[in-house]
Amino acid sequence: MNEKLAAIREQTMAKIKEAKDIDALNDIKVSVLGKKGELTQVLKSMKDVAPEDRPKVGQMVNEARAIIEDALEKSTKEINRLLRSEKMKREVIDVTLPGVKHMKGHRHPNEIALEDLERVFVGMGYEIVEGPEIEYDKYNFELLNIPANHPAKDEQDTFYITKDILLRTQTSPVQARVMETGRMPIRIVSPGRVFRSDEVDATHSPSFHQVEGLVVDKGITFADLKGTLLQFAQEFFGKNTKIKLRPHHFPFTEPSAEVDISCFKCGGKGCRMCKGSGWIEILGCGMVHPKVLKDCGIDPEVYSGFAFGIGLERVTLLKYEIDDMRLLYENDLRFLEQF
Ligand code: DAH
Repeated sequence: MNEKLAAIREQTMAKIKEAKDIDALNDIKVSVLGKKGELTQVLKSMKDVAPEDRPKVGQMVNEARAIIEDALEKSTKEINRLLRSEKMKREVIDVTLPGVKHMKGHRHPNEIALEDLERVFVGMGYEIVEGPEIEYDKYNFELLNIPANHPAKDEQDTFYITKDILLRTQTSPVQARVMETGRMPIRIVSPGRVFRSDEVDATHSPSFHQVEGLVVDKGITFADLKGTLLQFAQEFFGKNTKIKLRPHHFPFTEPSAEVDISCFKCGGKGCRMCKGSGWIEILGCGMVHPKVLKDCGIDPEVYSGFAFGIGLERVTLLKYEIDDMRLLYENDLRFLEQF
């Protein structure tokens, strides 16, 4: 019995010395001290020991047990200490290393131009309203005096969702939506995305932005329209800017005009920017057609108004002298960082 106990002790101590991790130590513990462990088996075989020897053997088993437990505990502590110090080495932070710099974004040129434009109109007492990009045919065409077979519908071919629902081709439907509410007077600008089935090139895109303007009140005249547009042009493009109105046709205004500004690059002498003419077209406008007022629930005998539609990309390209619209959509940082 003595020898057996000595053998268990020696083998176990040797195994503990070799153990490399906590799992190995646990296995040893179970195989020696566990319910079916070697040392436990020895205790269970006490009945075969002569009664007078039993206290002695019992004491030896307890001694062996204490020594093994002690060794296991020490080893566990040592392994944990090593693990911890390795972890500390791995997780060391060098506070002298340079930090990771976050890239800071900024506003898109289109957005910068829009905010400039909004500032001008808000300064004149306009409210900014938005309308839906997915629009009813009724608002996009019908209420704007563009009936089913009108040729203007072809020019503004778009993406249809159903026969009556489409991606709006212009921001003008917001006019009808605002007039329909019946709240007077109206003085709004409405920026937003519009869609047309156009091929992409330097001046076209199937999705671009417009800014609609609408004023309706008693006694609004063409002179108000002209004065407003001159004020806008001078604040936005520079105080020496002149404007020129050319007669044009839009179904929802009468009379209608296209507006040119004097070239801010050459001052009107003619250059590459204005293609030699001294003038640059920037928007369409006119007096709201009486039929449009009436269809939207406003009495044209009492009220009159003017409207205009500005191509946002167009004024952005002009303001920053960019010669290709595609640059605005490509998200190339080398381009965007210049603004
Ligand atoms: N909606 C027109 C277009 O997309 C632009 C326009 C012209 C808007 C005249 C107006 C306007 O409000 O009065 O071509």
